[in-house]
Amino acid sequence: TDSIRINPSILAADFANMQAELARIAAADFVHVDVMDNHFVPNLTFGPQMVGRIQDTSPIPLDVHLMIDEPERWAPAYAELGAASVTFHLEASSEPVALARRLRAIGARAGVAVKPGTQVEGLLDVLDEFDQILVMTVEPGFGGQSFMPETMPKLRLLADEARRRGSAVWLQVDGGIAESTIAQAAAAGADTFVAGSAVFGAQDPDAAIAGLRFAAAQ
Ligand code: DX5
Ligand code: ZN
Repeated sequence: TDSIRINPSILAADFANMQAELARIAAADFVHVDVMDNHFVPNLTFGPQMVGRIQDTSPIPLDVHLMIDEPERWAPAYAELGAASVTFHLEASSEPVALARRLRAIGARAGVAVKPGTQVEGLLDVLDEFDQILVMTVEPGFGGQSFMPETMPKLRLLADEARRRGSAVWLQVDGGIAESTIAQAAAAGADTFVAGSAVFGAQDPDAAIAGLRFAAAQ
């Protein structure tokens, strides 16, 4: 809530040239890393071994987004390998507050994510148990989908409550973020923006990051 963060998603990068791709996003605040298990979402990416190698070679801190079942079982490993933030899905978690506390105890920022159809009222009372809340602006699973403006009221609700409490929680959006959509998400209270195709699909990813930063501030 203090400033704007742009987190490019490497889901849209060339997986065979990850180091070179990371070098093209020097202006990023965090690298967004989408872990999918083909159960929670109908797509499969990579697990702790690959994320560990990205962590070892990335000059930019990692923002890990776990689209997986049983986060209680798997999420702590991502905090232990050094990810700056670890976000799990509320829909998949049996004890979200307890898991967030475990992640924080390991030293990561703890995040909780909600799909477009999941309500956020239950999070309002426990906002400060999390360092970031991710409001998905597409159905999780794939890059390149269209931004869903109907998710914006949830962001407003969270932003109002965060303001009321003087909370330091970051409000993140992920899915369909581009120069044409980022301002409405910022106006609804988002401060942390994930963008995959809008960054890696550009000729110059660093220039695209600058363009997003500018558009978010309008
Ligand atoms: C989707 C992932 C996103 C994805 C966003 O399930 O969580 O992070 O990479 O891609 P774009 O920005 O192309 O919508
Ligand atoms: Zn993501």
